[in-house]
Amino acid sequence: MEPKIHLLPEELTHKIAAGEVIERPASILKELMENALDAGATNLQIEIEKGGCASIRITDDGEGMDPADVPLSFRRHATSKLAVFDDLYRLSTFGFRGEALPSIAAIARVELLTRQPQAVAGTRIVVENGRIQEVRETGCPVGTAIFVSKIFDAVPVRKKFLKTEATEQAACMEVITRTALSHEGVKIRVLSNGRQQWDIPAAPDKGRRLGLVLGRETSDSLLAVKGVRGNISITGYISRPEVARSNTKSIYCYVNGRYVRDPLLNHAIMTAYRNLMEAKRYPAAALFL
Ligand SMILES: Nc1ncnc2c1ncn2[C@@H]1O[C@H](COP(=O)(O)OP(=O)(O)OP(=O)(O)O)[C@@H](O)[C@H]1O
Ligand SMILES: [Mg+2]
Repeated sequence: MEPKIHLLPEELTHKIAAGEVIERPASILKELMENALDAGATNLQIEIEKGGCASIRITDDGEGMDPADVPLSFRRHATSKLAVFDDLYRLSTFGFRGEALPSIAAIARVELLTRQPQAVAGTRIVVENGRIQEVRETGCPVGTAIFVSKIFDAVPVRKKFLKTEATEQAACMEVITRTALSHEGVKIRVLSNGRQQWDIPAAPDKGRRLGLVLGRETSDSLLAVKGVRGNISITGYISRPEVARSNTKSIYCYVNGRYVRDPLLNHAIMTAYRNLMEAKRYPAAALFL
């Protein structure tokens, strides 16, 4: 028999790897928001077109990037957040893999403008389908602005499996909600198809942020939660049993600032409400472990 194993071309392996990080527009948004927060941003502007299927722009006021780091940031496994293996045990950032930007740029066109506070000029880079098209000095505000377009144009199968614009838009809004709840000090403005959808000011505490994000009715009924056991602590808010919902969508759990959707945690919350709520009714909660 003839040997039949061959190595895949690099461009193809990148596209396959990108598929694991970037499934839909909301995944792009999640990665870009996390990068902005890792850069210390306190002000985010998010613009999505057609539910994020056409384009996503996110502008932050974070620390920006050094010109030399800009092309590197699009290389796989290039990160400023992790240096040695043990760093994984003391991570304070969302990012650590150095995968997000190269993955996004493997399946779309990315235009990035960035400037550090002390720098006189910023840098503009354009990367499309994994290839750097342009890098040059430019004038721009301090922080980073990233514009992602032609999303999945080079991966037609992915494009075909996108849901309706409304569904993708809802997924984007969910990503924004999750981040908004855990980062109450960050101002977030969201425009969808050019129209303002959200303008959430920085809030002094998570309780007030919850009201702005989940609505007055929910926030008025919230009870503060606080507890410590061993080296695990929990803080947050839960709704009074009267404010029952028909699904678990309003239960937001975070571990070390990262949103998690975990059946075990949900089960623990439901157990606490067992005799207080009818079957198939669920509370609203935002809990931070
Ligand atoms: N908005 C931003 N502001 C400042 N620096 C950024 C921004 N976005 C990315 N960077 C820089 O680019 C690098 C690469 O970003 P990328 O998201 O690809 O990797 P990461 O965040 O390090 O890890 P992960 O893949 O887990 O997200 C980051 O480590 C960071 O130094
Ligand atoms: Mg990242």
